[in-house]
Amino acid sequence: MTGYRLAVVGATGAVGQEFIRILEQRDFPTVSVRLLASARSAGRKLVVLGEEIEVEETGIDSFEGIDVALFSIPAETSRRFSPIAARTGAVVVDNSSAFRMDDDVPLVVPEVNIDDCRQHSGIIANPNCSTIQMVVALYPLHRTNPIKRIVVDTYQSVSGTGSAAIAELAAQARQVLDGQPVEPRIYRHQIAFNALPEIGDFLENGYTKEELKMVEETRKIMHAPEVAVSATCVRVPVFTGHGEAVHVEFTHPIPPAEARRILASAPGVRLLDDPTAGVYPQAVPATGTDEVYVGRIREDTSLPGGLAMWIVSDNLRKGAALNAVQIAEQMAGRGWLAPERRAA
Ligand code: A2P
Repeated sequence: MTGYRLAVVGATGAVGQEFIRILEQRDFPTVSVRLLASARSAGRKLVVLGEEIEVEETGIDSFEGIDVALFSIPAETSRRFSPIAARTGAVVVDNSSAFRMDDDVPLVVPEVNIDDCRQHSGIIANPNCSTIQMVVALYPLHRTNPIKRIVVDTYQSVSGTGSAAIAELAAQARQVLDGQPVEPRIYRHQIAFNALPEIGDFLENGYTKEELKMVEETRKIMHAPEVAVSATCVRVPVFTGHGEAVHVEFTHPIPPAEARRILASAPGVRLLDDPTAGVYPQAVPATGTDEVYVGRIREDTSLPGGLAMWIVSDNLRKGAALNAVQIAEQMAGRGWLAPERRAA
C-alpha cells in the first residue's frame, strides 16, 4: 500500500470530525493518520479508517514524518503550529483565517483556482465557509460574463462556530421549550429561535470581520480585485448548512435560463430550481452531502439583467473539511505533493 502520512490537527472539533468522516468516504491515499488536538483531548481514542488512534497534544514535535497536515484549530493557534508543520516538511491545508490573505499563501477552492497551489511555501489556506459556497456557484457565471457587483446576505448555521455552539443551540432550544431561562455563553444573545446579525468582530465601517472575509477572499480566489462585494452575515438557529441570498450584477445582462444552463454542468454545483414544486436548496437535506446547491434563480427586479439566487451547502464539508481534502487530493493527483510513501 502506498500513500501519505497524514495529520489531522483539531481532530476532536466539529471540522476535525468531518475530516475523519471524509477520509473514510473518499480514497485519499493514506498510510498513517496522526490525530492532534489540545492537551484537553490528549489520550482520547478515535476510530479512523477502522483503526483506533489516540489523540495527542499538538506540540512542536508533532509533525515529524508528516506529509500532509489538515488543520482546523483556532486561528491564533494555527498561526503558531502551521509554520512549524510546514518547516518540518508537511504540506499544510489550514482551515483558519490565519494566513488566508498572505501573499505567499494560496487561498484555494479547487473548482476555481487549483492552479494557485503550484506555488506555495508549505501552507495552503482553505477559505471561509460562506465564501467557498458562493464562489463555487458564481465563478462559472463570472467566467463567461464578468461579475461587477455582489450583494450577499448569509444565513449561517451554528456548527460554523464549532462544537460548543452546536451544544449551546441544542441546550437553549430545550430550555426555551421547557420555559426555562436561557444563558448565552458562546453567542452574545440567545441563538435558539433567534437570528443574530453579528459574525466576527465589528470593524470601524460597521461591517464585521466575517463580512470583510467574504469581500477579500472572493476577490483573491477569483483573481478579480475589481469585483464589488457587500455582505451581511447572520447567524441562524440551524445546526449545519449555510444559506445565502445573493444578488449579482454582471458586465452584460444574463437571462436566468442562461445561468441555469451554465450551472447545470458546473463542477461541484447541483441545481435545485423548481420553486413552485417546493424544490430549492435547504440546509437540512444538504447536511452530510458534498454539493453546493443553487436555486431560486431569477432576474433581480431592482437591476434588470442581473440575477438573484439562493445558495446552500454543508459548511462543515464543502465549506471546510471537504474543500481541504479536495485540495490535497488534487495536489496529489497533479504530482504537487511529495512522492507517495510505501507503508512499512
Ligand atoms: P480540543 O477538543 O482538545 O479542545 P471546534 O471548532 O469544534 O471548537 O474545535 C476546535 C478544535 O481545535 C478542537 O479539536 C480543539 O481541541 C482544537 N484546539 C483548540 N485549541 C487548541 C490548541 N491550543 N492546540 C491544539 N488544538 C487546539
